[in-house]
Amino acid sequence: MEAFLKTLSVLYVEDEDMVREEVSRFLRRRFARVDEAKNGAEGLELFEKNVYDIVITDIKMPVMDGLSMAERIRNLRDGMPIVIVTAFTDTDYFIKAIELGVDGYVKKPIDTEQLIAQTLKATYSRFQDVQLAKAKNATIKALTQIVGALSRAIEQRDPYTNGHQHRVSIFAESIGRLMGLSDEQLTSVRLSALIHDIGKLSVPVELLVMPRPLTELEYSLIKTHPVNGSDIITGIEFPWPIDETIRQHHERYDGSGYPDGLQGEEIRIEARIIAVADVVEAMSSHRPYRPSLGLDKALEEITRNRGILYDPAVVDVAVKLIREKGEKIFEEAAFTSRSSGR
Ligand SMILES: [Fe+2]
Repeated sequence: MEAFLKTLSVLYVEDEDMVREEVSRFLRRRFARVDEAKNGAEGLELFEKNVYDIVITDIKMPVMDGLSMAERIRNLRDGMPIVIVTAFTDTDYFIKAIELGVDGYVKKPIDTEQLIAQTLKATYSRFQDVQLAKAKNATIKALTQIVGALSRAIEQRDPYTNGHQHRVSIFAESIGRLMGLSDEQLTSVRLSALIHDIGKLSVPVELLVMPRPLTELEYSLIKTHPVNGSDIITGIEFPWPIDETIRQHHERYDGSGYPDGLQGEEIRIEARIIAVADVVEAMSSHRPYRPSLGLDKALEEITRNRGILYDPAVVDVAVKLIREKGEKIFEEAAFTSRSSGR
């Protein structure tokens, strides 16, 4: 908890010089930063210019009293933690403070231990948020690294498509970002794309590297990979619908895809994006049975099938990105390079 207090910045408002100096000295030893104000108006001015984690304020002060300031602060920032310091005789003010919903109060003369306890109580939910965010980030990082390792393991088996999933994930994430997807959805897109072909593990490797177009029977075996992939992943409780996305990545907008023949928005947005990124990457890369068809052919394919095989909104964004960036759509931007990257 001591360490947590050291991360907080405090606005402390008190008109009595001696009290303010003494309490500030105490606060400075425990908090990251302490700004002092002599009355509510000064406090408000500081609050508007700086970012604080907690406001500690006296009530009775000249120019603007503590509660008027608290009220204004709450209007500026809803839920801002406020602890008031009150003399025993301030009953009326005290009632108003309760109405305002301040987070804590300390009686004068200030008992510093009580002040710390009230400050902790007022900022505790923030403390929990910080801890939670830290834990969540660590989990996402570890999951991303595991999925990245899995992705490389899948691709080592099939050298011709080496790097395919990684490049698809980069392009898919850029499309998602430009479409305005949330951070959660972007993580979902990125990780699903990284292992979207995991189901090919159950397809004989000879088929994957066949230097000629496949027969219908051979192709039907390849077509089991979205379901196989989703079955492999479904036992892992990812916080994102990765198994569903993998199952749906060969579904097509008009319902002509597989395995379930889903249509339009029945297909998850992640899968609609990966479908486009997948075909663009596949067409512009070399395959055992043909050389690269080039980005222009890929552009033609998605434009011709816009609203037919592919979600028109996804195609529009993909086309824009291809025109702007060319081959660079498959490259990790330097500023977003990830530890999972290779
Ligand atoms: Fe696939």
